Amino acid sequence: MTSAASTPTRFGFANHLFCRECGATFDLGASHACADCFGPLEVGYELPSLTRSDIEAGPASIWRYASLLPVPRDVAGSRGTEPGWTRLARADLLARELGMGALWVKDERGNPTHSFKDRVVAVALAAAVEMGYKVLACPSTGNLANAVAAAAARAGIRSVVLIPADLEPQKIAATAVYGGTMVAVDGTYDDVNRLASELADEREDWAFVNVNVRPYYAEGSKTIGYEIAEQLGWRLPEQIVVPVASGAQLVKIDKAFRELIALGLVADTGYRVFGAQATGCSPVAAAFRAGHDVVQPVKPATIAKSLAIGNPADGPYVLDVVRRTGGAVADVSDAEVIGAVRLLAATEGIFGETAAGVTLGVLRRLLAEGRLDPRAETVIINSGDGLKTLDAVGQGGGPGNAPAAIRPTLAAFEAWESAHERKAVA
Ligand SMILES: Cc1ncc(COP(=O)(O)O)c(C=O)c1O
Ligand SMILES: [Zn+2]
Repeated sequence: MTSAASTPTRFGFANHLFCRECGATFDLGASHACADCFGPLEVGYELPSLTRSDIEAGPASIWRYASLLPVPRDVAGSRGTEPGWTRLARADLLARELGMGALWVKDERGNPTHSFKDRVVAVALAAAVEMGYKVLACPSTGNLANAVAAAAARAGIRSVVLIPADLEPQKIAATAVYGGTMVAVDGTYDDVNRLASELADEREDWAFVNVNVRPYYAEGSKTIGYEIAEQLGWRLPEQIVVPVASGAQLVKIDKAFRELIALGLVADTGYRVFGAQATGCSPVAAAFRAGHDVVQPVKPATIAKSLAIGNPADGPYVLDVVRRTGGAVADVSDAEVIGAVRLLAATEGIFGETAAGVTLGVLRRLLAEGRLDPRAETVIINSGDGLKTLDAVGQGGGPGNAPAAIRPTLAAFEAWESAHERKAVA
């Protein structure tokens, strides 16, 4: 729905929630599941008429798109981490390596806690404050914990994050530093998520961003799609490859592209959406391959821990998007993930986390299988920072390990050089 006469509410131009399954509509508020069929709820809008210049005049953060989000109009003035407006880097050396034409990397390391999760948390926080919640909470595969703890610290409210106990040490340290409450749970992310759902029912003033505030939270990922279109000069890429854990990011990038078309801000040139998973946690890729509409849960076993959700909430909707747009969901092994992290770093100077390795690994796989067009303009998402998943490239005597030291003399350097570099050239 669009209308020049839209009047903003306390959630901007959002004016209702609706059920993705049965279409029932509800008032905006603190619900996340359909009262009729338990389906997930989605935010609906009466969007204003909006020009490119209206958006371009906004701040260099996700709040330039505040009119398209379920947040108060003056949200940019509240204390937040101001994520977004990250770099869209043209990846010519990587493209050459892959035999592709135009390739871009949307580099989400530029966010305040170095992953795209700052976007979703900022929207969830704004909506949660509006609804009167007092505590910001989440179950997390790591990056979300960082983002929730940081955003709550800046907003001056309490945070409670629940994480699987086996998370990467860098992600634990990068959450603890903000001083909120962190609870390590002996179980998988799916166990942690179940515990969070039980707690959300018990603790009335706790906003679990990705559980009871999920309809608002998930909308934050639309800003990745808006930014890509704006940074390409107000047009859509022909292909996009997105990492899939719960699947929300992929589904919302597609929603963003469709909204921009409906608003007349970009031409409807057609695009294909591809999803990327690690083989050790690939329930959506498996369902895609089998031609199923439902996703069979799995027990994750992969180094890509940020994507290790065995029972993805948005899995069926990912399948809808990739099938509607003519894309695919594929998966790659942990060895391919590590190879892809190194390739992205060596060709583009971008050290992405394991999720980036999954995404680039799947791009390579789809190219090799002829399912992705090497000549079509393509964007891949680097959703997080390699400094948070150092073990993936620093173990087993690989080049990530500290090199043996030499004495500080020219002779020692030349001896080292003839042993290493010349050998490598020969
Ligand atoms: C770095 C990174 N990339 C991608 C994702 C996937 O996001 P979604 O759950 O929206 O599919 C996550 C989720 O935790 C993540 O941490
Ligand atoms: Zn319903």
